[in-house]
Amino acid sequence: MRISVSNLTFGYDYRTVLKDISFTLKTGDFLAIIGNNGSGKSTLIKCILGINKIPTETILLDDVDIAEYKNYKNIGYVPQKFDDFNYEFPITVNEILQVSKYTDFTEDQKLELLDKVGILELQNENINNLSGGQLQRVFIARSLMNNPKLLILDEPTVGVDRENVERFYKTVNELNKEGITIMLITHNINESNANYTHVLSLHNGEAVFREVSGGAE
Ligand SMILES: Nc1ncnc2c1ncn2[C@@H]1O[C@H](COP(=O)(O)OP(=O)(O)OP(=O)(O)O)[C@@H](O)[C@H]1O
Ligand SMILES: [Mg+2]
Repeated sequence: MRISVSNLTFGYDYRTVLKDISFTLKTGDFLAIIGNNGSGKSTLIKCILGINKIPTETILLDDVDIAEYKNYKNIGYVPQKFDDFNYEFPITVNEILQVSKYTDFTEDQKLELLDKVGILELQNENINNLSGGQLQRVFIARSLMNNPKLLILDEPTVGVDRENVERFYKTVNELNKEGITIMLITHNINESNANYTHVLSLHNGEAVFREVSGGAE
């Protein structure tokens, strides 16, 4: 998926969080979004997802204005942390990741995916019994079940152990090689061997966008 952001300015109430931000991504690009706490990283993502309302002609997905964009199935999104996740009813990993008419996956593809993200053995666990990192991986799997063309990951490896961080980035790199555009928010651009092609750095509402030469830094 191609993404074009032109002169995006956004704030909550009186406070401007993003000032005149512009950048474009081509299909298969892999963007790292960095910046201090409160610099507007999650806010930017929520603008792209249509959660934050912005003027028309500011963000285009495959040349379609997000106000008109209908095919949200093409976007896989894993939000930042799940502290406020609703645990009130018992549900298993398998039930969350159920193959249905709303998913593009077959049962076999699903099992392959669970193996890839390292949660195959957790299939029948109640989600209340999972650790934060395990739950994170369940949602990463969920975001991949519609074969997204754009994958947005907001600090996906917070609370994930080292071994699984490496495994995770390996999977993300593979998905990216298959042509999925990826936007990944991180505080540790050096933590991984992620094959970033671009970096967007947010500071005081302003953004610096640059290309990465030679893959991971
Ligand atoms: N729904 C909201 N209403 C009002 N202000 C908000 C809202 N969401 C975020 N903000 C404010 O906007 C600013 C940017 O927040 P945002 O969550 O985008 O930062 P971030 O870069 O993702 O930070 P972090 O690294 O902590 O996740 C912060 O000052 C925050 O308090
Ligand atoms: Mg954030």
